[in-house]
Order: sequence, then structure tokens, then C-alpha cells
Amino acid sequence: MDDRILDEGQTAHEEQFEMSLRPELLTQYIGQGALKSNLKVFIEAAKIRKEALDHVILYGPPGLGKTTLSNIIANEMNVNIRTTTGPAVERAGDLAAILSSLEAGDVLFIDEIHRLPRAVEEILYSAMEDFFIDVVIGKGEEARSIRIDLPPFTLVGATTRFGSLSAPLRDRFGVQLRLEYYDTESLITIVNRTADIFEVAIDDDSAVELARRSRGTPRIANRLLRRVRDFSIVKDEQSISLETTNHALKVLEVDPEGLDPTDHRIMQTIINTYGGGPVGLETVAVSIGEEVITLLDVYEPYLIQRGFLERTPRGRKATTKSYEYFEGKRQSDLFSRED
Ligand SMILES: Nc1ncnc2c1ncn2[C@@H]1O[C@H](COP(=O)(O)OP(=O)(O)O)[C@@H](O)[C@H]1O
Ligand SMILES: [Mg+2]
Repeated sequence: MDDRILDEGQTAHEEQFEMSLRPELLTQYIGQGALKSNLKVFIEAAKIRKEALDHVILYGPPGLGKTTLSNIIANEMNVNIRTTTGPAVERAGDLAAILSSLEAGDVLFIDEIHRLPRAVEEILYSAMEDFFIDVVIGKGEEARSIRIDLPPFTLVGATTRFGSLSAPLRDRFGVQLRLEYYDTESLITIVNRTADIFEVAIDDDSAVELARRSRGTPRIANRLLRRVRDFSIVKDEQSISLETTNHALKVLEVDPEGLDPTDHRIMQTIINTYGGGPVGLETVAVSIGEEVITLLDVYEPYLIQRGFLERTPRGRKATTKSYEYFEGKRQSDLFSRED
């Protein structure tokens, strides 16, 4: 099993744990101020007009709160939510069945919507725009198309890659919301909220340290807190101390900037093997034995956001800041599995 702490994907046994931490209303959703105030207006307006909320696309890196928001939208609108994912809907008929089971105002949440097969996606165009679908029944000579009217509903799509959506699909979302990495202040609030739910005490400086080293990502903040708590329990502490936090993070291979060994390998490869770049992302991926997709979705956005990596038309480049941070740095000084 891959147990890297910074793997921003969601593991199966983590799902249950995350469910218990999910805010249910907009007021409990921390950070993302601009997004929240916009969404609040759209929700209130839809309720006043007694109409379904316009279709919403949520996009941004994993773990920032897209699934959480989709549930909040349904709660705030007082409607049911049906949930599926792009790759799970294999045939047009599967989606037709889901769509025709919706009630007026319901939310249909499609996670990883960029992975819907094209033939399935095409069904969505008329469904989203005019609330009907054309379904083909029978085969060959006998085949005919019947129209099924749908109740007005809200499609909420989530994606890590907005750029991979086709234009016709993208344009049918009236509300397009981009989730940003969280600032330290918001992550401190999230860490303290999670600690409360766990019924565990945490020192202020520990919460700050965890927040700083969570890559701007609530899922990672919660995951790190859970692991650090284990170290603290074993030491029989009243409250999670900074010393324990720092020790745990070192053992968990999270460096002072929140970067993990893969981030280091990416940057060291660009700096040492490719003279600082520009170098194609595929080349970097092959050099370090990672999937291009993982680099694109998980690693690169944060390295860019922190100013370590630059995206140019000719490839990826190391910044001056990254030379200062990575050059000559020995990973054994930052991480340790032994102590
Ligand atoms: N704004 C937020 N406030 C508090 N907790 C959050 C927030 N956003 C995300 N979380 C926490 O992070 C976890 C991951 O969020 P999730 O919605 O599953 O992310 P995504 O769908 O974008 O990958 C959730 O279980 C939730 O506990
Ligand atoms: Mg999700």
C-alpha cells in the first residue's frame, strides 16, 4: 500500500473518517471567502425564485473541499443529492437512468467529471440546457429515439482539471468556481476544528506548524493531525506539543515547507539533471518514475504556487527560490524514518 502522507488522493478507509469531519453548511465551511460569498448569493437567489440552482462546476487540486461543497449546496438548497463519478458512468443508458430518477430541484453530483466518456457526456448537453434527453431504444432497423422530459435539476461537477473539459460541457455551467489553496490562518482553524471533533487538545504552536506544512490542503491537514495525534498518545501528552509535532512530521517525511521526498526528487532532477530546465514534464516523470498525471494534479500545482517551479512554453523551469531551497540539500537532513 502506498502510505505517503502527501498523496492527495483519498484512500478507502479514510472516507469514513472524512465523512465525520465534513462541514454541512456554508457557515461551517472555512476559508474560500470569495467563492463562499458568491455561492451564497446564487443559492439565496435560486431559493427566492423557487428555481433549481444553476449548474455549478467546482475545480481545483484534490483535497480542497469540492465534494464537501457539493453536499453543502444540496443541504443549503434543501434538496436531495445523487452522487456518481465520471469513470463510473460507462454507458449513456446509465446516465439516462440516473437523470430520470431525479426530483425537481435535486442535485446530481458528478465527481471527476472530466473522465465521463464522450458518448455519455453528450447526453448531458440537452439535459443541462433544456431538461430533456433523447434515448435510443432498440437496435438496427428497429431503433428509434424517444424524448424523456426531466425535472429542473442542478448538475454539480467537480474536476481537478478544468482545462480537460470540452467547451460545450464547460459552457453549460452557469456557475464556475475555482477552489484556491488555503492560507495558514484558515488551516489553523481547520486543524483546531478537527482536534475538537477528535476530542484531543493541541498546543497553539503545534496547530500553526501543522497548518504551515499541509500544502494549503484541508485533507492533508486532517491526515497529518491524525498521525501526529498517534505520536502524542504514545508519549502520553495532555496536549499535542510542538516537539512531538516536529518529530512526527520528520518521521512522516514532511519537510518544513510541507514538501515530501517526491517534491524533492522532482526539483533535484530539474536542477541537477536538466540544468534547471526548461524540461518537459513527461521527461521529469520518466526520470523519477512517477505518473505524469500525478505530477500534473498533485505535485506541480503546489510547487508552482509556492514559487519553486515555473511553467514556460518550452517546459518546466526551476526558479531562483528553488535553487536556494533545494540545491545541495540532503534529504537525510530533512526526513528520517529511523529516529
Ligand atoms: N472549507 C473547509 N472547511 C473545513 N474542512 C474542510 C474544508 N474543505 C475541505 N475540508 C475537509 O477536507 C476533507 C477533504 O475535502 P473534500 O471535499 O473531500 O475535497 P475534494 O473533493 O476537493 O478532494 C473533508 O473531509 C473535510 O473534512
Ligand atoms: Mg472529492
